[in-house]
Amino acid sequence: MTTENIFPDFTRSIGRAVKENRLGQKGKVIWLTGLSGSGKTTLAIGIEKALFDQGRFAMILDGDNIRSGINNNLGFSAEDRKENIRRIAEVAKLFADAGIITIAAFISPTVEIRQMARGIIGQKDYFEVYINTPLEVCEKRDAKGLYQKARKGEISDFTGISSPFDDPLNPNIIINTDGKSVEECVNRIVEAIQKDIK
Ligand code: ADX
Repeated sequence: MTTENIFPDFTRSIGRAVKENRLGQKGKVIWLTGLSGSGKTTLAIGIEKALFDQGRFAMILDGDNIRSGINNNLGFSAEDRKENIRRIAEVAKLFADAGIITIAAFISPTVEIRQMARGIIGQKDYFEVYINTPLEVCEKRDAKGLYQKARKGEISDFTGISSPFDDPLNPNIIINTDGKSVEECVNRIVEAIQKDIK
């Protein structure tokens, strides 16, 4: 697709700093990466609530929700996952530019994919959180029954089983959820980003 006849102009609308001032916060993207069942969605909801209680304005973008709407034409091949994350990173960037604290909860399984997200969003606005719940724990939880299906071969390309998950190289923070309360994990993340959103 060519962008030859497209004329983007991000300069004439009300600027980011003015919007951030109105919202009383700085825009930021909190990028949660980890296996299916690692707790990304639960933590995203907890972070949103904690920020809301602090008087902040946040927005969650979550894999299962996004894949039932804007990205419902994408599957789980390497190529589709990349396109999934590319679109999300672009949307997250728009939100952050509007001063919104955006919480993105996606497996985003490879170093390459996360680098792309970081590149689109920009280093300054990207805060990577690795939800480091071990595969055995995710599989034992199996809240959606997907690991069992994947083991039976009923789902192909399943992350951690038949599709890779690379450990993040340089996450801003690593959260081990195993044996910790949701509140504890949420508090650690919210504390870690405080200085960036004020
Ligand atoms: S990503 O790899 O492209 O970042 P994303 O976070 O959007 O994945 O979606 C992951 C969710 O899709 C999982 O939590 C799970 O509920 C569902 N899912 C369905 N099939 C698969 C699969 N093959 N691999 C991983 N997750 C899957």
